[in-house]
Amino acid sequence: MPLPMHQNKPPPHPLASIKAVVAIAAGKGGVGKSSVTVNLALALKAKGYSVGIMDTDIYGPSIRRMLPEDRLPSQKGQIITPALCSGIKMISMAYFRKEEEATVVRAPIANGLISQFIKNVDWGTLDYLLIDFPPGTGDVQLTLSQQANLVGAIMVTTPQEVAVMDVRKAMHMFDQVKVPIIGVIENMSYYLPEDRKEPLYIFGKGGGERLARETGVPFLGQIPIEPDLCQSCDSGKSLFELDPGIKKNATRAFMDLGDQLVAHVGALQADTSNCLQHFELTWKEMR
Ligand SMILES: Nc1ncnc2c1ncn2[C@@H]1O[C@H](COP(=O)(O)OP(=O)(O)O)[C@@H](O)[C@H]1O
Ligand SMILES: [Mg+2]
Repeated sequence: MPLPMHQNKPPPHPLASIKAVVAIAAGKGGVGKSSVTVNLALALKAKGYSVGIMDTDIYGPSIRRMLPEDRLPSQKGQIITPALCSGIKMISMAYFRKEEEATVVRAPIANGLISQFIKNVDWGTLDYLLIDFPPGTGDVQLTLSQQANLVGAIMVTTPQEVAVMDVRKAMHMFDQVKVPIIGVIENMSYYLPEDRKEPLYIFGKGGGERLARETGVPFLGQIPIEPDLCQSCDSGKSLFELDPGIKKNATRAFMDLGDQLVAHVGALQADTSNCLQHFELTWKEMR
């Protein structure tokens, strides 16, 4: 008699109801991963997509401050219903600790918390789930890369070589676990004061584009230094609230990044289903 294991279909992945899970990563802190996650999510929402954010920075969750909730998360047994923030579903360690309290846990516990975020949150159906990755290339990052059903990763860098170096290491990690890189976005690329025509390249020029070229991945564009963006993160008022007419270069850059994400993810997913079809045909021929 065959083992019951062979008769049963494997259960669906806990994130299977989400059309595309995308990592926003850098390997480095302070380059704007969380700012990009929030504003990209808002841009996708403005384009009519349903979006969620998983803030996986256990030790420094900052997304709650950037995007305050209209509805808190709730829990029934094991299952967590995410918070709702300006129409975006969100889960973050920030809901389970007071803001001023540090999360002091060793790596295996942090890993366990992340597994719970992956397995126990009821996202419903979503077009895009953006995962704000923690800095570094350790255990949590590996768990996420292997278990979160990622379609790919957007790498955030700033123009300086020190940032680019760390981002390159994180790209190597994704490469090792076979997560495709969707592309590189350069944040804080330049500053254009209102009374000037020429931008100021405060942190150097071209690091993001160079990294994309050297690693053979798409360059997704530049996001300028925008004082309102910094203020929006601190005050919890989003850039899209402060700039509803989408007049600022930074707001436009996020809208453009949204279009790029939709196009590149679509191409990656089409590629994967072509591969599966090809595999099936080859397999049939071999019988
Ligand atoms: N393009 C930008 N212009 C101005 N300030 C920015 C920009 N991107 C990020 N910041 C600010 O830089 C700081 C670090 O950004 P954050 O998104 O928290 O980085 P990370 O998540 O990579 O650690 C925050 O105070 C944020 O408001
Ligand atoms: Mg962050």
